[in-house]
Amino acid sequence: MYLTWTYCGRRVLAYLACRVRMVRVMCSGMVHPNLVIEALTKGADGVLMCGCHPGDCHYQDGNLKAEKRADALRLMLADFGLEEERFRLEWVSAAEGPRFAEVVSSFTEQVQQLGPSPYKS
Ligand code: FES
Repeated sequence: MYLTWTYCGRRVLAYLACRVRMVRVMCSGMVHPNLVIEALTKGADGVLMCGCHPGDCHYQDGNLKAEKRADALRLMLADFGLEEERFRLEWVSAAEGPRFAEVVSSFTEQVQQLGPSPYKS
């Protein structure tokens, strides 16, 4: 994912940098649902989690674990009074810079349409 960010281009980078806060992890399977809920209840308008395509995880099955956690997360969001669309899981390889930029842009637009997080004070 590090390379993806590098290859998405300076223009796109500049556009995204003012709207997105990147949190890099070694594998999408390392993102515990509590971290996503914490971000969303502490003011993030949305959380986009990107991982390697199924079968390409460097830790073998981290992305499959992430997918199961994402399913659980979607169920939890309603309990927290949050729209399901404030969270998204996408598979983007390190070689897919333009796709990464497209996914991030699409998600930020979706979240903007929802408006600010109800947890924002
Ligand atoms: S290393 Fe990319 S999803 Fe596991």
